[in-house]
Amino acid sequence: MTHRQFRTRRKRIPPGPRGWEVTQFFGNGDFAKTLDFLTRQAREHGPILSFRLLGRRMYVLDDPALVRDVLVVKQHAFARATGAALLREIVGTSVLTAEEPLHRARRRMLQPAFGRAQLATYGAVMAEEARIARDALAPGDVVDVGDAMTRLTLAVTGRTLFGADVGEHATAMSAALARAMADVSRLGPLLEVLPPWAGAVRRRLPLPSNRTFARARRELGAIVASVVARRRADERENDLLALALAARDDDGSRFDDRALADELATLLLAGHETTATALCWTWYVLASHPRVEAALHAELDAVLGARDPEPDDVARLPYTSAVFAETLRLYPSASAFGRRALERCELGGYTIEAGACIVISPYVIHRNPRYFPEPETFRPERFLGEGRPEFAYLPFGGGARRCIGEAFARMEGVLAIATLARRLRFERLDPLPVAIGTATLRPARPIRVRVCERSPRVDCSSAG
Ligand code: HEM
Repeated sequence: MTHRQFRTRRKRIPPGPRGWEVTQFFGNGDFAKTLDFLTRQAREHGPILSFRLLGRRMYVLDDPALVRDVLVVKQHAFARATGAALLREIVGTSVLTAEEPLHRARRRMLQPAFGRAQLATYGAVMAEEARIARDALAPGDVVDVGDAMTRLTLAVTGRTLFGADVGEHATAMSAALARAMADVSRLGPLLEVLPPWAGAVRRRLPLPSNRTFARARRELGAIVASVVARRRADERENDLLALALAARDDDGSRFDDRALADELATLLLAGHETTATALCWTWYVLASHPRVEAALHAELDAVLGARDPEPDDVARLPYTSAVFAETLRLYPSASAFGRRALERCELGGYTIEAGACIVISPYVIHRNPRYFPEPETFRPERFLGEGRPEFAYLPFGGGARRCIGEAFARMEGVLAIATLARRLRFERLDPLPVAIGTATLRPARPIRVRVCERSPRVDCSSAG
């Protein structure tokens, strides 16, 4: 009996890659290779596989029931992984980076800002900004579609978070965030694997990148503080900041300035690049799948006719919603997130030791042929028929830490696709496939497109 069989029979350590194979985890600095490595390993060893990396044991899950165990059933045995600790250095202590019980308190205070009534208000801003973005594009223009989508989602997040009067700060804040994030994301796939103290140690080293980071962090803090101060003096707006200013904890306490600044920076960070990336890939796949594009146009023409979409139309556009859902399946903006075991526990029949790192990768799980036949094929129809087990599809995570902006992002995505595709098409200038570049699934190179006009085929009997 080999050593490996022995370990498997006793079910103490799950199977997984060995020795030199594990070095592929680093992908030579190419994040697409890291994701491909994890996907191959999951197909070979799943539903739970394990390996040692830099002295830490990692577990990768490829099974909806095991994911549910970690995110819901046994959530108290797990904390966010190192990535959250590094993010805390950028955005401070917020709903994204805090652990319990602070996380729950912050989430409860923010929740009203993401309620149904509020979403309708945000939806009107999303529809208007999508029209502005579309009308800025003229047929024949050549654009980087990723840039265009980032401008759109930044405008939406800026206005919905801070209101029209201070929305312009979003651009300056986003630039400071991007500089700080670029520094942290250089760690690539190591982000989730390093021990929690690693970020703090690295930050104290006298590296030039640390000085840039500190400057970006100061800039960010100063901008948010000035926005908050201005708004405390004038609470008339009906945006997320107004709701956050009025929010009270169970014991009646309010957000102090520091906490509010950290939450706003977090929402800006978590809320705009994720959606922009998903939209960028949407235009990429649409440009390469004429059949899907034609079906999308048919739905838009039948439901909207000669008018632009409004927030209420989202529920009437199932195919458009399916296009966005299928894009998030193949290109989930949060490609992988981690959990750290706080105590020894059991998972799938294996003992997980305290301190181990659990990797949950929507990118890997969304490519499981058991739930998504021909997983590499872009087919929005998957989302029109029967459902699938909970956690087989999880672009927004799950459990107590499920994305607070999920409904926001879905509405923004569908309104943007419908508004632009109603009148325009994008043709790719470079037909070669574009790979994934970063952990947040930015494309490895800009996706340049030519803007083309589309004449909607309006059926007057059904047009609104
Ligand atoms: C397509 C767009 C988006 C994707 C794919 C996405 C994905 C995710 C995922 C996977 C998580 C959970 C991570 C984990 O469990 O460790 C998360 C959390 C979070 N997201 Fe999103 N997100 C998107 C848009 C947004 C938007 C628009 C906002 C806000 C305006 C937002 C705010 C947050 C926050 C605050 C959390 C932390 C929630 C908590 O810990 O309680 N996200 N997101």
